[in-house]
Amino acid sequence: MSQPSVLFVCLGNICRSPLAEAALRARAVEAGVAITIDSAGTGDWHVGHAPDPRAVELARKYGLDISGYRARQVRDEDFHKFGHIFALDPQNLKDLRRIEPSRHIAEVRLLMDLVPGRKGTAVIDPYYGDEQDFEQAWADVCAAADALVKRYSG
Ligand code: 4NP
Repeated sequence: MSQPSVLFVCLGNICRSPLAEAALRARAVEAGVAITIDSAGTGDWHVGHAPDPRAVELARKYGLDISGYRARQVRDEDFHKFGHIFALDPQNLKDLRRIEPSRHIAEVRLLMDLVPGRKGTAVIDPYYGDEQDFEQAWADVCAAADALVKRYSG
């Protein structure tokens, strides 16, 4: 079977999805599971930008360096390249469904559906929030990353 591949998608690709990418990268290494991992945004406002400084700081606090990540917009080929595309909230899922090509390989679904008790819920956008909101987003993406690693190491 080919290596699992996962794309995380939020709105700007500067807060939540880079954190999800970093969390899964770290856990996959820890667990010795090979997964192709990337992130993107449905919007294009931040294309080419580094993650939000608050996300960079938060990741650093947990021992991860995401300062080299650069935002990009989700594109047609992602639906043909990734086995799994996870939306960070229901609006992102709606937007992905709107742009998905008619035939593609990716399973497109909501990220928090992977976490027991969180079906249908969002990783809340911390962009207009405070440090606590970033911590909550981090806890959420870590719970989802744990579920993914479990799924792929089983
Ligand atoms: P993200 O957060 O989708 O988690 O990267 C946001 C980043 C930027 C904006 C909104 C959300 N924005 O409106 O520019």
